Amino acid sequence: FQKEKKILHEAHDYSSKLYHYLLRNTDVAKPALEYLQSRGFNDGLIEHFGIGYAPARWDTLTQALERKGYSPAEMEAGGLLSRRQESDGYVDRFRDRIIFPIHDASGQIIAFAGRLLSDGQPKYLNSPETPLFNKSRTLYRLHEARPAIRRARQVVLFEGYVDVIKAWYAGVHNGVATMGTALTGEHAALLKRFADEVILCYDGDDAGQAAAHKSIPLLEEAGFRVRVSVLPNRMDPDEYISSHGQEPFVREFIEGAVSAVKFQLIYLRKAHILLEEDGRIRYLRDAVRIVARRDSPTERELLLKELAQEFGVSLDTLKQESHEFRQQEK
Ligand code: CTP
Ligand code: MN
Ligand code: MN
Ligand code: MN
Ligand code: MN
Repeated sequence: FQKEKKILHEAHDYSSKLYHYLLRNTDVAKPALEYLQSRGFNDGLIEHFGIGYAPARWDTLTQALERKGYSPAEMEAGGLLSRRQESDGYVDRFRDRIIFPIHDASGQIIAFAGRLLSDGQPKYLNSPETPLFNKSRTLYRLHEARPAIRRARQVVLFEGYVDVIKAWYAGVHNGVATMGTALTGEHAALLKRFADEVILCYDGDDAGQAAAHKSIPLLEEAGFRVRVSVLPNRMDPDEYISSHGQEPFVREFIEGAVSAVKFQLIYLRKAHILLEEDGRIRYLRDAVRIVARRDSPTERELLLKELAQEFGVSLDTLKQESHEFRQQEK
């Protein structure tokens, strides 16, 4: 088993170098290179992140691995090749895609993510689960971000690979992303060894905000203090940086990330119609319920004060209501 893993590590290393070489040096990769440039990837970023290109033909990697003496069956088990559909034999798993190498925590390449150059499905194709690659334990760029995470005792979680890369370029060196999967308890436990605070910097669309909402209890149960970046609707970190710049991104959404409870209140607002009294009453009740769950009396009081002021009710009334919720939940 150890030998099998060693061979797969070597094969990933070799494949990554090949994809990167092809992006750099071949005519068939021109559209891929232009696509990357149009998204703000300069030479330095392409080098640093080891980005590559898998050509459209069926057997680029298949042939190259075979020439190197690797067994196609083992390479299929490692997620680099696929079994041919209609007949015997193997074909490249990644075709006509931009290739992002995925590393384990020690920095070895264990998988790839391949992005289409145009609209189509699936936008990203990842390696399957293999002896090297377990999605729920892997975080994109953790091997690189770990020293910065330890120093700040803080980690920034993104949804997308490109978000991690562009934020890194903007100076956010403690950022990682999940592998297109929801955050798991395993991810949280892994990160808890290096950090005490998580900033959830997910996409501004409904899916991203819902994912942030779901991740908060998971992270708080693991012992993290949680803050959330609330991006404009329909923008992800990469898009925000491209249209507004690096410095505003860091200031507004990393330094300016709001507390988990503030985020929950913002999130709750969307579900209520505050122009109507009914809606306001229901919002206030749900909001006080969220505040009542906080352990710190100071935090509760400050938040209740803000709600009292905004909705023109007395602090005492809200305190009373919060107290009742706390009694019920005991
Ligand atoms: N993802 C995936 N498979 C897909 C779509 C998305 O694995 N078919 C994962 C990828 O990890 C992706 C993340 O979910 O980075 C977020 O998805 P999305 O916001 O749609 O993509 P972006 O990261 O914004 O990709 P891009 O900027 O390249 O369009
Ligand atoms: Mn190079
Ligand atoms: Mn999204
Ligand atoms: Mn996105
Ligand atoms: Mn994006």
